[in-house]
Amino acid sequence: MHKTLIAITLASIVIAVGAVLVAVGVVPMGATNEGGAGNGNAQIVAHEGAGLGRVATEAEVALLNISIRPDGVGLPPGQGTVQEGALIFGPRCANCHGPRGRGGQGGRLSGGVGTLGGEEPIKTVNSYWPYATTLFDYIRRAMPLYEPQSLTDSEVYALVAYILMQDRIIEPTDVMNATTLPQVIMPNRNGFVEWWPRPPE
Ligand code: HEC
Repeated sequence: MHKTLIAITLASIVIAVGAVLVAVGVVPMGATNEGGAGNGNAQIVAHEGAGLGRVATEAEVALLNISIRPDGVGLPPGQGTVQEGALIFGPRCANCHGPRGRGGQGGRLSGGVGTLGGEEPIKTVNSYWPYATTLFDYIRRAMPLYEPQSLTDSEVYALVAYILMQDRIIEPTDVMNATTLPQVIMPNRNGFVEWWPRPPE
């Protein structure tokens, strides 16, 4: 994680320095195209420009490229059960999201299913989100808030299982992995409407 932060910080500095050099006229705007104009080769462009930085390696890109698509593409190996999730959720999540994810300073994750069309809609992960796969992406990327990306992939699968089980979206014995998670149908999966073209009033 620290290496990633340092890489991002360094990249920002390189971009900022490059912009300043162009702005003060040290480097002409067109310099990046000299010689290699239009050949689309990022390696050559980077070196013929301000001469700063380098093209990111595949390994560096892979570290940052952790997006999971709604259909589950990108889900890693590993698996987790509801029971395993309960053991992690208690110490690492409940202080902010409440017991069983029912609410705390970090917001509600569970409950509220079926309330969205009523007088007092309660939006939670379980009541509102259309895809269960997003839960994996979000938790792996951002939680716990003070220590993001500290969980193993199997721990994330277990937490997803635990949260989904709180509203019986999955069964207590279900195991979440790259095959089963994309098959979960969230309660509000079909609750979203097309807003363009705008529906008649
Ligand atoms: C220090 C407090 C804290 C801890 C610990 C924490 N979270 Fe969060 N969590 C938050 C906050 C704050 C948000 C809202 C962030 C935002 O909206 O930008 C959030 C958002 C979320 C969301 C998205 C909710 C939504 O409706 O958008 C999920 C899912 C989630 N957390 C899961 C977890 C899990 C699982 C853990 C344990 C591994 C965890 N969180 C630990 C504070 C915390």
